[in-house]
Formats: sequence, C-alpha cells, structure tokens
Amino acid sequence: MCGIVGYTGPRQAYPVILKGLKRLEYRGYDSSGVALLHNGQLNVYKKKGKVADLEEMMIGKSLEATIGIGHTRWATHGEPSDRNAHPHSSKSGRLAMIHNGIIENYALIKQELLNKGYSFTSDTDTEVLLNFIEDIHQHIESGSLEEALRIALKRVSGAYCILLIDQNDPETIIAARKGSPLVIGIGKGEHFLASDASPIIEYTKEVVYVNDYELAIVKPDELILKNLGNEKITPFITKLDMELAAIEKGGYEHFMIKEIFEQPSTIYDCLRGRLDAAAGMIRMAGVDNHIEQLTNANRIMIVACGTSWHAGLVAEYIIEELCRIPVEVEYASEFRYRNPIVNKGDVIIAISQSGETADTLVALEKAKENGAFIFGIVNAVGSSIARLSNAGAYTHAGPEIGVASTKAFTGQLAVLMMVALTIAHHKKTITQERYQALLNELQDIPEKVAAILKNAEALRKMADKYKDASDFLFLGRGYNFPIALEGALKLKEISYIHAEGYPAAEMKHGPIALVDENLPVVFIATNDLYHEKIISNMQEIKARKGKIISIITEGDTTSPKLSHDYFTIPPVDELIAPILTVIPLQLLSYYVGIAKGIDVDKPRNLAKSVTVE
Ligand code: G6P
Repeated sequence: MCGIVGYTGPRQAYPVILKGLKRLEYRGYDSSGVALLHNGQLNVYKKKGKVADLEEMMIGKSLEATIGIGHTRWATHGEPSDRNAHPHSSKSGRLAMIHNGIIENYALIKQELLNKGYSFTSDTDTEVLLNFIEDIHQHIESGSLEEALRIALKRVSGAYCILLIDQNDPETIIAARKGSPLVIGIGKGEHFLASDASPIIEYTKEVVYVNDYELAIVKPDELILKNLGNEKITPFITKLDMELAAIEKGGYEHFMIKEIFEQPSTIYDCLRGRLDAAAGMIRMAGVDNHIEQLTNANRIMIVACGTSWHAGLVAEYIIEELCRIPVEVEYASEFRYRNPIVNKGDVIIAISQSGETADTLVALEKAKENGAFIFGIVNAVGSSIARLSNAGAYTHAGPEIGVASTKAFTGQLAVLMMVALTIAHHKKTITQERYQALLNELQDIPEKVAAILKNAEALRKMADKYKDASDFLFLGRGYNFPIALEGALKLKEISYIHAEGYPAAEMKHGPIALVDENLPVVFIATNDLYHEKIISNMQEIKARKGKIISIITEGDTTSPKLSHDYFTIPPVDELIAPILTVIPLQLLSYYVGIAKGIDVDKPRNLAKSVTVE
C-alpha cells in the first residue's frame, strides 16, 4: 500500500505529482505529502488526511520546482499524523525520501543510529532507513548517494519501493524496489515514477516496470537501471494499452458504482476472443499451451487474499465438479508461513486483482522455488504476480480503482469458469452436451448482468430500509456459499456494518443464536440442487423472526412468501450463478455505504493494494 509519485523534467512537478497522488489514493489515504526541489532549496510539505487536505494546505506555498516526489500513505509504523506522513527528511535536511513497504529490521538499525546520536521526528521505519542511508553517505569515500543507498539496502530486510532526492542534485531521483511496485514512464526529456501506471498514462505510454533488487537513477534525459551489485541492466520498455478514460469516473458519483455498472462490458471483454459458443470452443493461450500440465495436475492449490480468495472458493466447487481434480484454496498469508506440501505435478493458481498483494506474491515465490507450476489470474497487466507466473490469463476488467473489488471479481469468475471448462473438455470429464450448454450460458452472462443492473433502484430502496442494522448475516449453499462470504465482506468494507457469511446449513451451529427481529439475513437462494434445503433454512430464520432478504431466480414463488424483501435474477445454470448473484450484493453494499455517508471508494483503514504482509 501507499502510493508514490515522482517527476523530473521541464514541467512544473507539483501539478503532475498532485494529480498522480489523487489517482493513487486507492492505495492509502491517511496522510500525504510532497517534496519539491528548486534552486537548491528542498521544501517538504505534508498533511494528515486525504490528498485534498494536502492540496488545500498548499495554497499560497512556494510550489515552483521541476523535480519532486509525493506520497499518499497507509500507515504501518506510526499512527496517521502530519509527522508520520511522507516525505521524510534526513537529519541534515539534505535528503528527502518516500517509501512504500515495511523495513522489518528497522528497530535494530534505529538503535544503532540512536547510539550514534541520531534523533527521530517520526515513528516510521522510513525515517530510520533514510538516516541510515545518510549516515553511510557521510562516511563513504566516493561520496556517491547511489552507492550509499546500495550499501544500505543490502542491510535491510523487508519490502520497499523508495524514491530519494538530494538537495545538491537538482535533476536526479534515485529509486529502488523490492516487493513494492514501481513503474517509470519515459517522456521526451522527462521521466515519471509511480506505484502504477495511472499517474503516468496521460503523459506517455512507454513505461519500464522496475524489478526487485533494481535501482534506477532517473534524470530528465537519462534512465539508468542497475542491480544491487552495481551492474547496469538494459531497461525493458513496455507499451501501455490503457486509456485515460478508463481510470476516470465518467459521470458516476463513485468509482465503485461505475465499476459495478461496467460489468456487462468487462465480462464481455474477458470472454471476447476466448469463448466462441457457436463454434463450441474456448481459446486461451495460457491454458492451451499448458493443457497437459493442467489436465494432469494431481492437485490444484489456489492461493489468494480477500475477494480474490472468494473467487478461488467458487473455483474449488467448479473445478472439482467439472474436472475431478482435487482443489485446495488457501489464504496466501497462511500458505506462505506454514509448511505446505507442494509436490511435483501440483498446479498453483494465483488469483489477484492488483498482481501486487505481498502475501500472495511471496507465497508464489516460495511455491515456485519448490518447483510448482504457477498459473496467474491477474487483472493488472504487467504486475509482479503476472510476471512471476509460468502461465496465466488476464481478467481484462480494466483498472479497478474503488477499494472494494467488484468487476475484477466477476472477471476472475469468468476466467476460472473458462479454465475449468477447457480442462474438463480436454480431460473428458464433462459431456459434450453439458460443455456446450455451459458455453452458451457463459456467453449470455453479460446480458443477464445488464438486466440485473436495470433494477438497481430496488436495491437502493432495500438499503435505505436496512442501513441502520448493526449486524447482517449472509447465507448461501453450494456454488453460492462463497458469494455469501463475498456479500458479507463487501458490506463490512464499505458500510462498517458487522456482517458474517456462512453456509446456510452451518448457520444452525452458531450464528442462529444471533437471530432476532433486528437481524437482516440475506439468503442467496437461486434455483439449484439445494433450493428446497435453503427454503428450510429460511423457515428456520423466519421462525426466529429474523428479517429475510432473498436473492432468488425469476419465477420462484416460494421464497417471496418467506421473505421481507427479495430481488430476482434471470434463470441461469447453478454453476454460473455466482457471477450473477454477487451483483445485487455489490449494489446493496454500495447503497448502504452511501446511505450512511461513507466514502465508499476510500473506506477507513483499507487499501486497494496491500503490498505489506
Ligand atoms: C485488499 C483489497 C481487496 C482485495 C484484496 C486482495 O484487501 O481491498 O479488495 O480483494 O486486497 O487483493 P488482490 O489485488 O490480490 O486481488
């Protein structure tokens, strides 16, 4: 988390940095700051709160500078405050630095510096690292800041992307990365640096993704990449195929609602060129080129976090049903620290919107070291997880800015369904009729999503009715059980209402104790194999006076009789249903969030891309 931006070139740096920080605010928004270097004068401004608070504070300040760095923070070490905000200044005042990541051994280094007489103005690991660099810098013969940084980085453990500027060097930003993303945009006589491409896209489409353990020395006319051993590396230039419009709100009040409404087209984009129902085919290069490996997998392990983990749970049900391959779904944070058994022949599927989630990334590195084959399902093109994977498929949902994941999730489900269908077809664990029927169903999904979105107003009304509840329970069975978890997560994230997701039948073993006339219970009760069973679960809630809200299939006449409120979705095969059932839950959460006056794109304490463990 944390967003970083840097600029060096002929333009005024501050407007470029400010706009960039606003685009990166999804990565953290508890405080922000900039350092601007002009005529040998290094001015650092920082402020607790959102980037807009910084912007307001900057009115009337000296903003002249053609080189600068800026940061928007998600606190790790030290509470959100002006003094813990970045950039940090070195003891001498000569250096300023911003950092995304965590320096794990900072306490040890801090003690060493305290022993040498250093004092600190913040509680951050960043200030420690900066003064460590300065201390080395003041003692090495070469006097080279770049060398001091290299020496320092060899001593630190943890994750970082840092940008460093020196008052005595009016043109240069030195950057380094390990574990936290860094993209450098190449302009004409200018360079842009950022955590992702969104602050860069309007200036240039040529970018370099910096790799771990690389250092960049960036001047207006020059970009030098080196490794920590001081060897030069040739920068690999990638062309961005992202449009500016894709990262702007386009008339919607929030990114989240824009992204929810984009789903008919993002799912279509995900299927386009891959799924051809008329020809009875799915073509996915990442799958087709590795079909034997995937088909012969002894076991598939799915590793992910958050919403992406829920997509993994849906996939577990689908892959086991269609492909008859055992599947395990793991939280990346658990996988990386326990001692999982990964055998040759196992396939790991990594699911990540951002492609930068630290826990997922490290879990994969570990599995790859053990010889596992990694298949990445990622949204952010060129991200770390995409590059680490042996093969994969992008979700093609476009940039997702709202902190709560929506369109990336349905993209993940669409990709996972196509992957499962391809394997099952190749492995002949699915009949031709069922295969064709599911291709047809998938092809129709964008239209059905659009039909659900047309009724969004009904969910707004429901949200107004239930917004003051203090708890919610979400229940589902089978393919819709993970959607119950996702519905609860969405609501928690953006309305701050406590919510739990449970398998509907398991509810009897605990959550039922919570049920009374004040508890809204959301049932995902579409027509499937378990429909009668879930109706019984509704009866159990009704008998205890819980308020039943149900998501049901058009034509269901039983559920409405048991429900206080219900929302219908078009008929769909049960295996594909999660792509549809999640949509009303996304909308319900969104409307509850806005009814409660919450900044749904930037809910408290969360960040979109969690690049710390
Ligand atoms: C954060 C985000 C979630 C996301 C999770 C995993 O918690 O707020 O929306 O699901 O990270 O992120 P990833 O980018 O790996 O899918």
